[in-house]
Amino acid sequence: MGQVITSVEDLNFDIDQIEDMPAPAKVLLVKPTYFSVDYVINPHMKGNIGGVDKLAAQNEWEHLKSAYEEVGLYVHELEGERGYPDMVFCANQSLPNITSDGKKQVIMSVMHADERKGEVPFIQEEYEKSSYEIVHLDENKFDNFEGMGDALWHFKKRLIWGGYGYRSSKEVYEHISDVFGTPIIALELIDERFYHLDTCLCVLDTDTAMIYPKAFTNEGLELINRLFKHVIEVSKYEAEQLFACNATSVSGKNVFIQQGCVDVNHKLKDLGFKIHEFSTYEFLKSGGSVFCMKMLLW
Ligand code: ARG
Repeated sequence: MGQVITSVEDLNFDIDQIEDMPAPAKVLLVKPTYFSVDYVINPHMKGNIGGVDKLAAQNEWEHLKSAYEEVGLYVHELEGERGYPDMVFCANQSLPNITSDGKKQVIMSVMHADERKGEVPFIQEEYEKSSYEIVHLDENKFDNFEGMGDALWHFKKRLIWGGYGYRSSKEVYEHISDVFGTPIIALELIDERFYHLDTCLCVLDTDTAMIYPKAFTNEGLELINRLFKHVIEVSKYEAEQLFACNATSVSGKNVFIQQGCVDVNHKLKDLGFKIHEFSTYEFLKSGGSVFCMKMLLW
């Protein structure tokens, strides 16, 4: 039976009691060759159709790629596919797991927008090559789930934070919790500009998270504040315009974040994080930034 937690009353554990999990050592990136804004499926894309500077996007992506290599991750690079301009956001098509006995498995997404459904099989092929067990959701039962856009692993712990409301449905988490044997904390998202959980919650390390509070209900905020010792709040400007919460914490120390998040960077530095700033302006036009432009793998 799955364990889905939706309020602090359901909580029967502390983070310290949750089983440890190895940190992923690989990162999957999809080349931005075909990246553009061709349609509008989130509020950030409005007004940006045809507005991507391809060369700038390519440069931004290359910088990110080198940075992952510099911090010691193995980068697995995948060619994009013509006709799938959002495939570069490769956090969205799947949710991988490694079991306690080292078995690798992955749940493939059921994308919300028709425009993105065709990306999933291309990503699945990569998992097949790396001998992951592939799990498909029954699309008649679960019509929406966007992988690591909405389902975030707690840092090195067998616990998932699952966002729902815009791109993933709440019901799917019971099933995922069952398949992975992992408790899931389900958080309702209530502001369409923060349509994926990775736009308003960033797990930085076991004790620390960065959030945009107004994207959550009170129940959700209570859960976040109960399970993280330090919760960094991001301003509306940095969260909405610069996607600060779409940062990535590599090994719980190095924070890769969109350029210009001055306010939150001070708070991160005070807690001992090392900041690496990137320009992802071209990708912000599509409603994405650092976190959703990669997938961490075992
Ligand atoms: N244009 C893409 C979409 O709306 C952006 C996805 C960004 N991904 C994310 N996890 N925030 O689907």
